[in-house]
Amino acid sequence: MTRPFRSVLYIPGSKERALEKARDLAADAIIFDLEDAVAPEEKAAARATLARFLEEVEYAPRVRIVRINGFDTEWGRADAAAFAHHPGADALLVPKVNSPADLDAVAAVAGDKPLWAMMETAAGMLNAAAIAAHPRLEGMVMGTNDLGRELNSRFRADRLPMMAGLGLCLLAAKAQGRVIVDGVYNAFKDEAGLRAECAQGRDMGFDGKTLIHPAQLEIANAAFAPSAEEIDLAERQIAAFNAARGQGQGVAVLDGRIVENMHVATAQGILARAQTIKVGAIAVGAV
Ligand code: COA
Ligand code: MG
Repeated sequence: MTRPFRSVLYIPGSKERALEKARDLAADAIIFDLEDAVAPEEKAAARATLARFLEEVEYAPRVRIVRINGFDTEWGRADAAAFAHHPGADALLVPKVNSPADLDAVAAVAGDKPLWAMMETAAGMLNAAAIAAHPRLEGMVMGTNDLGRELNSRFRADRLPMMAGLGLCLLAAKAQGRVIVDGVYNAFKDEAGLRAECAQGRDMGFDGKTLIHPAQLEIANAAFAPSAEEIDLAERQIAAFNAARGQGQGVAVLDGRIVENMHVATAQGILARAQTIKVGAIAVGAV
């Protein structure tokens, strides 16, 4: 992963004020939405508005992802055609992906844009491994609102009803080395709730979280960055392991815990992620 994906902000493609505001926001990536955040009567206008903004505004180095409508709607194909060769779009996000065939259909008209998949249906959860293995796929986005609707599950702060789906998609993404970001936290004024859900997603292994409001950016950016303590521990683990190796040992002991080669690999990953975030954050003016 060469870019951080700690904070992935949805912006309705129809909202000029939000599109304008986004040029100064510290999001690692933006999902410019043409699907659920845009009313049916606004679809065509939103497509045109978004095309213009992506041409005129320099959102890079934020990763610019356009969420198109599904190909089972009257707008999906026109959305894909409008952004397949648009220089301001880095990738297309396909909603409600049930199987790799849904990605095939979009890939056929998406130029050479990488694809992202909304993972938000029961069928999608069960086919996550095959979806993650699609050669055009770059990342997965959890769609926990749609999934909850289909499951008829209730919102719980511990997200127990979501765990099977979240876990299947995480395993699938990791097995293929894809990026995977967690679902949104709807109560955008509830900072403590968001912080707790970010921590849970981070602990599970998500790369970041999708967000609906700028007020959520700082919390996600902090939660998905390695902490100062983690960086310090990683550096000390690597040093301790190297010292043990120098003495012909394969295992080191640090702070009463063993350090083996896989811990060193994890530690190196933490340092690499911290470096990626540092470079990315400077680029979007968020240090
Ligand atoms: N991206 C960028 N800017 C945003 C934004 C977003 N997602 N949400 C709000 N803003 C901007 C507003 O335009 C406003 O800017 P201004 O100060 O220049 O006027 C500022 O942030 C404060 O917004 P606020 O008044 O607190 O919120 P709101 O009432 O305008 O909007 C929502 C609240 C939830 C409707 C809005 O945040 C939103 O549309 N979010 C995205 C929803 C979405 O995309 N859903 C689909 C995926 S789940
Ligand atoms: Mg959805």
